[in-house]
Amino acid sequence: MYFQLSEEQEMIRKAARDFAQTELKPGVIDRDEHQRFPVEQIKMLSELGFLGMMVDTKYNGSGLDAVSYVLAMEELSKVDASTSVVVSVNNSLVCFGIEKYGNDYQKEKFLKPLASGEKIGAFCLSEPEAGSDATSQKTTAIDMGDHYLINGVKNWITNGISASIFIVIAQTDTSKGHRGINAIIIEKGMDGFTAGPKENKLGIRGSDTCSLMFNDVKVPKENRIGEDGFGFKFAMKTLEGGRIGIAAQAVGIASGAYELALNYSKERKAFGKHIADHQAIQFKLADMATEIEAARLLCLKAAWLKDNGLPYAQASSMAKLYASQIAMKTTVEAVQIHGGYGFVKEYHVERLMRDAKITQIYEGTSEIQKIVISREVLK
Ligand code: CAA
Repeated sequence: MYFQLSEEQEMIRKAARDFAQTELKPGVIDRDEHQRFPVEQIKMLSELGFLGMMVDTKYNGSGLDAVSYVLAMEELSKVDASTSVVVSVNNSLVCFGIEKYGNDYQKEKFLKPLASGEKIGAFCLSEPEAGSDATSQKTTAIDMGDHYLINGVKNWITNGISASIFIVIAQTDTSKGHRGINAIIIEKGMDGFTAGPKENKLGIRGSDTCSLMFNDVKVPKENRIGEDGFGFKFAMKTLEGGRIGIAAQAVGIASGAYELALNYSKERKAFGKHIADHQAIQFKLADMATEIEAARLLCLKAAWLKDNGLPYAQASSMAKLYASQIAMKTTVEAVQIHGGYGFVKEYHVERLMRDAKITQIYEGTSEIQKIVISREVLK
């Protein structure tokens, strides 16, 4: 077992850290407050190769491993989880899904602009009545011979407004249950396809989450990913990797809050000494540091398994389950250590606490991760 990062991985981590500090931090409070999408920041991240990190260079990607992706996600998320979720969805749900399961035409037409960041992608699975219960898709993709006709509504779609390329999971044949579901690529501007207003959210407010409406949208057959009926398994396989990205986001949110609390505890004085010299604070910091390290190792293990072609469904769900729990716990403690200052925006920890909550919900709630893990351990 070897815990040393390679020189390249260290370099990626440093590049992400520098970017987060210089380009994300200055406007992060404002973007959160006004729910402003990080347009400029995403453009810069695209130029640095962070939008298609694990995609082969022949498709405009950076050709990096999943470990590097986890390191970058942690650094970006320490400062701005709204920006990091855009990076995460584009990389591990959309680019990964098309590169792994798409055909040559789809890679040429859709993956290339997604990996370069010229276009942003969205992954559309959740519906008003099918979030966790993903087999109960109501959106339909009716086979019309040379095209599919899409009708229905998708909910809670990250990048819903900014994206140009959407992977939509829809039911083609209800009699076949999950085997009648397809994953179909839909482009912005197709007739009958509209996006709803931006949701006014508790956290990750800079990212745009919305509903999508499909009204007789005609999509060419060549936009279907994989064989007929592969859509549900496509979604499950893709989410396995997506969960590593969200776990890394949770680690980043936690470690961002922890670092702020640590620094604050060395500056703030109470009862005649720095609060870091009080054992009540020291014990909190010790718990935070230990739990963050454990969550980070779970993430890195899941990424390592993926990089080495080994099964990672259980590892990614464990990483996401634990990292999201400690993100919530750590950010609450970071606010507590800051006292009254923690309750105001300028100190960043209240935003991190709000951002932490979504990591227990999206790409499968904590309860869904427990279903996946328990099924694996009971196999
Ligand atoms: N890989 C491959 N196949 C898989 C699989 C996996 N990881 N998981 C399940 N399958 C297969 C099963 O083998 C089964 O196939 P067969 O019948 O051929 O054997 C089929 O899929 C159905 O599986 P289940 O019977 O296990 O399905 P289920 O209805 O019990 O559901 C679930 C399983 C794990 C609960 C699943 O529905 C799930 O993961 N739900 C959560 C979905 C989710 O994460 N939603 C979040 C939305 S995406 C998002 O948030 C993106 C964003 O914008 C940030």
